[in-house]
Amino acid sequence: MKGVRPDIALLRQNGITAVAFTRMNDPKVIPLWFGEGDDVTADFIREAAKKALDDGQTFYVHTRGIESLRQSIQSYLESLYAREINPRRISVPGSAMIGVTIAAQMSLNKGDEALIVSPHWPNIEATYRITGAKVNMVRQRETESGWQLSAAEIINKVTAKTRSIYVNSPCNPTGWVMTRPDQEELLACCRERNILLIADEVYHRCVFGAKAAPSFLEIARDDDPVVVINSFSKAWAMTGWRVGWVVTPAEQSDHWAMMSECFNTGATVFAQHACIVALEEGEHVVQELKTQYETGAKMVSDILMGHERIKLAPPRGAFYAFPRIEGIQSSLEFTKRLLQEEDVGVAPGYTFGPGNDQNIRLCFARSHEKLQVGLDRIVSFVERYDQP
Ligand SMILES: Cc1ncc(COP(=O)(O)O)c(C=O)c1O
Repeated sequence: MKGVRPDIALLRQNGITAVAFTRMNDPKVIPLWFGEGDDVTADFIREAAKKALDDGQTFYVHTRGIESLRQSIQSYLESLYAREINPRRISVPGSAMIGVTIAAQMSLNKGDEALIVSPHWPNIEATYRITGAKVNMVRQRETESGWQLSAAEIINKVTAKTRSIYVNSPCNPTGWVMTRPDQEELLACCRERNILLIADEVYHRCVFGAKAAPSFLEIARDDDPVVVINSFSKAWAMTGWRVGWVVTPAEQSDHWAMMSECFNTGATVFAQHACIVALEEGEHVVQELKTQYETGAKMVSDILMGHERIKLAPPRGAFYAFPRIEGIQSSLEFTKRLLQEEDVGVAPGYTFGPGNDQNIRLCFARSHEKLQVGLDRIVSFVERYDQP
């Protein structure tokens, strides 16, 4: 490809959009393909953005985010995790995805190795690959009680060239949640070998049976090589706002400002003002969404787990189910036919890394009415499905 360097020319469209873009705004489709619900962001958060615009919040601001937002994030994290966070560690570079990209760019040279806990969201692999690093994977195990992986299994895959490890807990697409002892063991390894740990915690509030999932923030010191990624997208239903935050080692703070200049030159300013309101007044929204996701998870388990052709390891967090369906040979062929014949949109498993071509991913954050119809149609399709 002319004018494009090889690492970028090699990128391929991911399987989620490959299916979804074919009928994205079709009202006949029950869309369970993307990681979002159907409720618009809460009105008081939208009002705050409108007010910020009316107040003239339309100028460049600090590339690590406006100070008042960084202070709100600090208070939110300090109250959630009951520990002090050095304000120099907090930056708002744009979306969570920009946070992952900057962390990958900061830590990896061509020829280095990166390790991803898999199954994984495809954008993460792409972001790692365009650094020119070699990407290795360590696979979670599917068990009857949920997906599992120990720190020892991750550490076992670390090589002398590993410079970055990516862990997403609660996990998209499996719902795996890393335990505190495993976090401690992995952090100690990264500390000792100076490996940047990218801890993607965008689903930190989407966990079943607890206020929040165990976070690396609860155990990391100011100078530990950990970047904790977070976002307004999931917990406050703000996917289209494109704002997230990172908590980094304190000494990296100027580099996050400089890298943010390269990528986005800061997050959209009036959105940042609305994010303060989300943090300070939106706890009830987080709780309501969490309850909705919990019921969605139960519906998915009740309907899919008993089926003889469907194997589902129940998710413990995030808002996805990642069932394996007996008889599928190509997850892309299956999802395309499901869309065509049943008007239900899900994501094909192959796009979440190797070993998943019999799986599909469906998002249960949607309204329960839509979810119920979607699940019923998936089951009836599975029952009559025969390979081509
Ligand atoms: C695991 C994971 N990390 C990061 C992101 C990106 O979040 P955002 O949309 O806030 O950039 C997503 C979005 O789905 C995700 O699932």
